[in-house]
Amino acid sequence: MNIERKSCMKSIEEQFSYLGIIPVVVLEDVKDALPLAKALKDAGLPCAEITLRTPAAEASLQEICREYPDMLIGAGTVLTVEQVKRTADAGAKFIVSPGFDPEIVDYCQGKNIPVFPGCMTPTEVAQAVKRGLKTIKFFPAQQAGGPAMIKALSAPYPELKFMPTGGINALNLREYLTLPSVLCCGGSWMVSQSLIRTGAFPKISSLAEEARKIAAASKAV
Ligand code: 3PG
Repeated sequence: MNIERKSCMKSIEEQFSYLGIIPVVVLEDVKDALPLAKALKDAGLPCAEITLRTPAAEASLQEICREYPDMLIGAGTVLTVEQVKRTADAGAKFIVSPGFDPEIVDYCQGKNIPVFPGCMTPTEVAQAVKRGLKTIKFFPAQQAGGPAMIKALSAPYPELKFMPTGGINALNLREYLTLPSVLCCGGSWMVSQSLIRTGAFPKISSLAEEARKIAAASKAV
């Protein structure tokens, strides 16, 4: 399936489900933005959550969105409505936040911007469900109880989908993706800061390709 064509037609959730794994990226230098995007695209994983954790993050996101408009690029670690406005203007197709911030969720819903707030307790999940969200980030996934916690949380909310992120890698990805309530996972292992810093883009590509294959095989089960 061609993800670039698909991105025109399908919801963000459908694209997440198809890809299975979303690279979570920290960019410290804008010069790394386009090589990183190309490495992911070449790997068949044309997607990234660019975390707003560095001064270079917003300019990097803007550059990738301009050069690769068909990639599925979103903003992560979004902590304010102002950041939502700036990154959406720059081309971000989705917003991810580490916690459940009602102000951010309400703003995004009002503007039809797909938003995935982090939740790890039934109380937070209840707030998300009350607002009609169909998919939430489960963060920090591994530290908060991993697949067993997702199974327990999804029992009272059978329709809700989770995007676990935090502590996920090539070894435990499958365990998450084979849960029916998991839409996709987020992870940084294939785009680690040390790989980006050292310009190891071929290595990033091969790790991303491996992640994509594990995801495809897991979701086919
Ligand atoms: C994060 O916010 O850093 C993400 O959850 C990624 O976590 P990871 O580095 O453990 O994959």
